Amino acid sequence: MPHRGRALLHGPVPEYIAEHFTRIAGAWHPTDNPDGYLGLCIAENNIVWDLLEAAVRKPRDVPARAFAYDDFAGSLTFREQLARFLGTRLAGRELDPADIIVLAGAGSVLETVFYSLADPGESVLIPTPSYAGFWMDLETRDALHIVPVHTRSRDGFCLTIESLERAMVSAPSPVRALLLTNPDNPRGSVLPPEHVASIVDWAVEKELHVVVDELYAFSVFEPDSFQSVLRTRSRLGERVHWVWAFSKDFAASGLRCGVLVSESEQLRTAVRGQSYWSCCSGDTQYLLGELIGDEHWVSRYLRVMPERLRDSYDAVTRELDYRGISYVPAEAGFFLLLDFREHLPDQTHEAADALWRRFLEQCNVNLTPGSACRILEPGFMRLCHAALPKEAAPVAADRIASAL
Ligand SMILES: Cc1ncc(COP(=O)(O)O)c(C=O)c1O
Repeated sequence: MPHRGRALLHGPVPEYIAEHFTRIAGAWHPTDNPDGYLGLCIAENNIVWDLLEAAVRKPRDVPARAFAYDDFAGSLTFREQLARFLGTRLAGRELDPADIIVLAGAGSVLETVFYSLADPGESVLIPTPSYAGFWMDLETRDALHIVPVHTRSRDGFCLTIESLERAMVSAPSPVRALLLTNPDNPRGSVLPPEHVASIVDWAVEKELHVVVDELYAFSVFEPDSFQSVLRTRSRLGERVHWVWAFSKDFAASGLRCGVLVSESEQLRTAVRGQSYWSCCSGDTQYLLGELIGDEHWVSRYLRVMPERLRDSYDAVTRELDYRGISYVPAEAGFFLLLDFREHLPDQTHEAADALWRRFLEQCNVNLTPGSACRILEPGFMRLCHAALPKEAAPVAADRIASAL
């Protein structure tokens, strides 16, 4: 097998994900399987299906064109629906459907965008703690070099211009872009608009591209506390590109629908050139277009969904507080970072990974290891509370406390 194929034999998928799919058949159930597997390692919103179910199960008048070839970067009808939805709900201004590209999930969008923005071996800045999958998206086929911009717990994980400057200077190859996630995964924090603006302005001044990943834009406990760059920048310009997906805010990670908004015609053309290999299915576009086009349904959904997340977060933090398990408070997303530093025999990633394995093997609880999120300090792990109903919170907290 050639080098490219051989390099994939050991798979880019992190160990905690592989463990998750091996154990999922024995998932926890309050009555049928109370000792079952608690998969709390994947960022999924599994607590709003009842809000979606009626809307997606109602008979649909699917047009024949949804089954045919269409624009590989998203049908014009769907891009118009997205322009209206994102324009009214996030941007507060009109968006141009021509600036929108739709592909099979945010992962595909990121992979194709970065394929177009940098050559193999060139560098991209990514603040940490970060979403673990960025390494798969940017390294596996794009062959880019990620320069982590580490933030620290003692500074409240604050991302500063100084740390960006330092990372830029330390990069082993030309830095082409910054990938910024807001609201953040894995911390569930929200950057204020003026902080985002200063980071974006810095990057643009350095002639970098800035890809702003706002996958959790609607999953914010106090929706007014977040402002999209689509709103704060009246024009994105040639260097700022926006990524979103239905995976998180619409709890539809299995449907594979990711969205790019970019005013750069060059970038869009390059991404379109790759779109055939990662299209979103016509039927999915039709279904999602109907959902976001239903003003009444979507207004209710976008009001109730964040309330559910808040409720789920409150349920898990209550249980953690009760058992004295430390965590970093969150204000968005499906997760929070647990802090096990005081439980490590030594402050190394090996000790932290051993604790992660102990939770898995002794307690049948899968958290996301901090090393996967590239957290500089060993001992943090992500717990995805919205992956399971809130009745699982005391069970998870009990099992974790017993292992400690
Ligand atoms: C911040 C962030 N970006 C991108 C992705 C990938 O999303 P998708 O499932 O749409 O590919 C995730 C998934 O967890 C994420 O958390």
